[in-house]
Amino acid sequence: MRMYDLIHKKRNNEELTNEEIEYMINHYVSGEIPDYQMSAMLMAIYFNGMNDRELSTMTNVMAQSGDMVDLSSIEGIKVDKHSTGGVGDKTTLIIAPIVAYYGVKVAKMSGRGLGHTGGTVDKMEAIPGLKTNFTQEEFFNIVNKTGISVIGQSGNLAPADKKLYALRDVTATVESIPLIAASIMSKKLAAGSDCILLDVKTGSGAFMKTLDDSINLAQKMVSIGENCGRKTVALITDMDIPLGNNIGNTLEIKEVIETLKGNGPKDLTEICIKLAGNMLYLANKGNIDECEKMAKEAIENGYAFQKLVEMVEAQGGNIEYIKNPEKFEKARYSLDVILNEDVAGYISFMDTEGLGIASTMLGAGRETKDDIIDFSAGIILNKKVGDKVKKGDVLCTLYTNDNSKLENSKKKVLSSISIDKDKPKEIPLIFARIEKNNVEKS
Ligand code: URA
Repeated sequence: MRMYDLIHKKRNNEELTNEEIEYMINHYVSGEIPDYQMSAMLMAIYFNGMNDRELSTMTNVMAQSGDMVDLSSIEGIKVDKHSTGGVGDKTTLIIAPIVAYYGVKVAKMSGRGLGHTGGTVDKMEAIPGLKTNFTQEEFFNIVNKTGISVIGQSGNLAPADKKLYALRDVTATVESIPLIAASIMSKKLAAGSDCILLDVKTGSGAFMKTLDDSINLAQKMVSIGENCGRKTVALITDMDIPLGNNIGNTLEIKEVIETLKGNGPKDLTEICIKLAGNMLYLANKGNIDECEKMAKEAIENGYAFQKLVEMVEAQGGNIEYIKNPEKFEKARYSLDVILNEDVAGYISFMDTEGLGIASTMLGAGRETKDDIIDFSAGIILNKKVGDKVKKGDVLCTLYTNDNSKLENSKKKVLSSISIDKDKPKEIPLIFARIEKNNVEKS
């Protein structure tokens, strides 16, 4: 087989066979196919795409290029969840305890913050003492004992994706929906769960900016999951507004605690009930309505909060902070962002990516790979899209341990918020639910 012939075929929009795809990925990982040939192939895929069979085969080969985590020593159905990344997205830490309460196992590897979006592992490390790196045996023991563990990515998971992603990054081929689908799903397949819930974000704070692209990506990922033997559902959720009111690591942990105690913001609570309901559904706990009701009850009866406490304790975290969140260290400096313009109206739009950047500027995220996060930095939103505002209102409060960062962040926040005299149309939190061969729009 010659890579030249495979590039020629894909350039001419012909299908690659499974053997050709296996050859291409395995020989690229081993270094026998050079970057320049794989770059040409990626560009051909960018323009001509791949059909369902080609994409599922490629994803499976990418997953098999490294460790395939074997979760069989954990009893019960294991359900994973993936979010394509957002601002203020702390849902994992709310829904994992909910489903674990019902006996569904969550053995999850999560990522760190990337660009303007936060990462679950960073948020968890804001809890004093909590560890996110364990041996596989320790990880499995925690899941068997508590039903839930969330750790950082470890081992050699889908090295083909790592190598391909780095090449896509420098060849203008990151924004290819089939390549994104293969990249995400290769890691999910390798992580070993039986079922996968995908939270595909759409809007100004998301990777996918339009609903059509988000649905297209979700359909491809669901189809890959199902073709590779994993029950998979995707929800398309709104990221044209940050989730909840708090952005930044400690601030988000405090909001997780409030939400699990039943006092969370309405949007965050509602979306978590939907996500957890779908995870319970994937684990065969009932139909969607029954599963959503169960999710709600786990918050109301306090058992999901108790599960969070168990998980934090099992991962070495100090549970006194979870029981008494006022113990968390507060940022030394804060600044209210006040609406100074002489306008009265409604917040019509929030550039969610802009708010994520403003939070990063305060120290809540990394500007470079080696930056150290200021856990207490971030933003608490006082007003959100649809809220009435007038001159003198506090739009949000900024928090940081570095005084010099406040002014620039404030400018970024103000340039990210639009005000209009008319109340904007209410948009749903969930735009669509995608199952195998079925797209249900809200
Ligand atoms: N996240 C991934 O893991 N891969 C992509 O290609 C894009 C987002």
